[in-house]
Amino acid sequence: MTEKRRKKIIIDTDCGSDDAMAIAMALNDPAYEILFFTVTAGNVTRDQAVRNTLTTIEKAGTYEPPVYAGADRMILKELAFAYETHGMDGMGDLGFTPERLLPAEGHGVWKLLEALRASEEGEIDIITLGPLTNLALALRLEPETVKKAGRIVIMGGAGFGGGNVTAAAEFNIWQDGEAARIVLEAGLKNVILVGWDACLGDCMLNEEEIGRLRESGSLGRFAVDANRVLMELNRQRFGQDCLDMADPAAMAAALYPDCIREQGRYYCQVDTSCGPSYGAVLIDRYGFSGKEPNATVCSRLWADRYKEYLFRTLGGREKR
Ligand code: RIB
Ligand code: CA
Repeated sequence: MTEKRRKKIIIDTDCGSDDAMAIAMALNDPAYEILFFTVTAGNVTRDQAVRNTLTTIEKAGTYEPPVYAGADRMILKELAFAYETHGMDGMGDLGFTPERLLPAEGHGVWKLLEALRASEEGEIDIITLGPLTNLALALRLEPETVKKAGRIVIMGGAGFGGGNVTAAAEFNIWQDGEAARIVLEAGLKNVILVGWDACLGDCMLNEEEIGRLRESGSLGRFAVDANRVLMELNRQRFGQDCLDMADPAAMAAALYPDCIREQGRYYCQVDTSCGPSYGAVLIDRYGFSGKEPNATVCSRLWADRYKEYLFRTLGGREKR
């Protein structure tokens, strides 16, 4: 029987604690082959995000794709790290650090372009979990090469809900609004925006699910413990232990599209003005702009399917 070919993906990350959970999920999905990771500053510095990515690969105990450092600063905007959400090290300040792995030689943006240049049209999907700086730089260097990518699934924007870093903006887009504008205005045909609203409501991990994931094995324990700071923040915000896992939701939408409940094609634009709505992704729901849609917005997942996928890829895994 011929082995079903694994779909090739490249993951771009600013590896904080929810990225780590999403990366661990992807490393445990046999239908996909992660060619490599590219890393950007975002939740934490680029170099800390590289270390966090390496740690996650070690904790997953599956295969070990190369990790390439990318942008250490945004296109224009000063970096504002998310220490209050993920901890100073981005992984719950529990001392997680890579024991053995080192980053690969080469800049992530050039490695992304090299892989896409050598690929067939649509052969490689790109999944981004942080600010879009690396993708924007690749588009500025070789736009036609980037257009060879298959799906480009982005955890970004507040969807149809409110922001999580300002009233209007979601963190990944707000951290580098100019990069997000470059991506959304590049004429890419297969952009899928998974908004922060997709991981809320019945897709939040509740106290019982968090406990079950933590008890499911070493990888589940790591994925929960790395999100310790976010859990404490949510305890203050919502008065209960719960986890809004934005990157795992985007990863599930990318790797297990059957869990997508609501999505639609819209013209989306990013506010890069200097006012209070900087970084907002404006979704032209009713076509006021008269412009052709430039993205598919995924705003809701089937909670049962999403969580089944999350447990299937993370749970019951003792480190090999
Ligand atoms: O808004 C949530 C996003 O911002 C996630 O990707 C999280 O890791 C942070 O990067
Ligand atoms: Ca992230």
